[in-house]
Amino acid sequence: MAVRTAVIPAAGMGTRFLPATRATPKELLPIYDTPALQFVIDEAAQAGCTRVVIVTSRAKPSIENYASAASTDKVTVSVVYQDSPLGLGHAVSCARQAVGDEPFVVMLPDEIMGDASLTKQLVGLYEQSGKSSIGLKRVPTAEVSNYGNVKVASGASTKESSVAILQVVEKPKQADAVSDIVIIGRYVLSPKIFEKLEQIKPSANGELQLTDALAMLASENALVGVVSDITRYDTGTPMGLLRAVIEIALERKDIGPQLNSWLKEKFNK
Ligand code: G1P
Repeated sequence: MAVRTAVIPAAGMGTRFLPATRATPKELLPIYDTPALQFVIDEAAQAGCTRVVIVTSRAKPSIENYASAASTDKVTVSVVYQDSPLGLGHAVSCARQAVGDEPFVVMLPDEIMGDASLTKQLVGLYEQSGKSSIGLKRVPTAEVSNYGNVKVASGASTKESSVAILQVVEKPKQADAVSDIVIIGRYVLSPKIFEKLEQIKPSANGELQLTDALAMLASENALVGVVSDITRYDTGTPMGLLRAVIEIALERKDIGPQLNSWLKEKFNK
């Protein structure tokens, strides 16, 4: 079945970005002149999605205002609400009715990708295999604890090809890591994930983890991944956002050359 819907969880309170997030949700903080959220909406459209569902909080009315003006001839943007901050798994289940009984993409707006190639590839993989397909990346072992961590079938973890996922653990201690491969914020999920999300128990911090539902798919041999080296900006921290602004602005034809010469002038002093 074709994948036509992208779900963007955007209900978090953005406490790392205080005081900015008192007034502006972190998803609307600008990468030069374009909100981070818009990059993710554009990526969804480029990957062939025609519907974007943003899961937001009633405490962030500007997300709804933004969404109401964000539909184009290619993509319709709407919102649903997550009324309590019960984790990523809960956020995804809040989109169940809007998604319906069909596969969908989950795109975490804390991560901006250099292009839509990974999401496109995951969509293609799902459409061909019928298995939920997720973005993966190798990281230094000291960083594994910040992510969902996966063990993949041996001998098959070459860059850009798909791998079977055998085990999934959310943010393990470094000593308990199952590999140096982690989940990055792009998932193409079978609607079966909604049943799994009903079955999982809250983790130690009280949140429903999407990773625990993915682990159930993995145990049924229904989860694959792509170990990617796509350009990826982690905009979930103020320093990550600042780096994304500078690097993305440097890439732009309209302002890149001007920014480049200003930076050179500044650092050559
Ligand atoms: C979430 C997921 C985690 C994943 C990460 C990717 O964590 O729970 O499995 O690796 O996104 O960015 P968060 O960063 O929201 O804590």
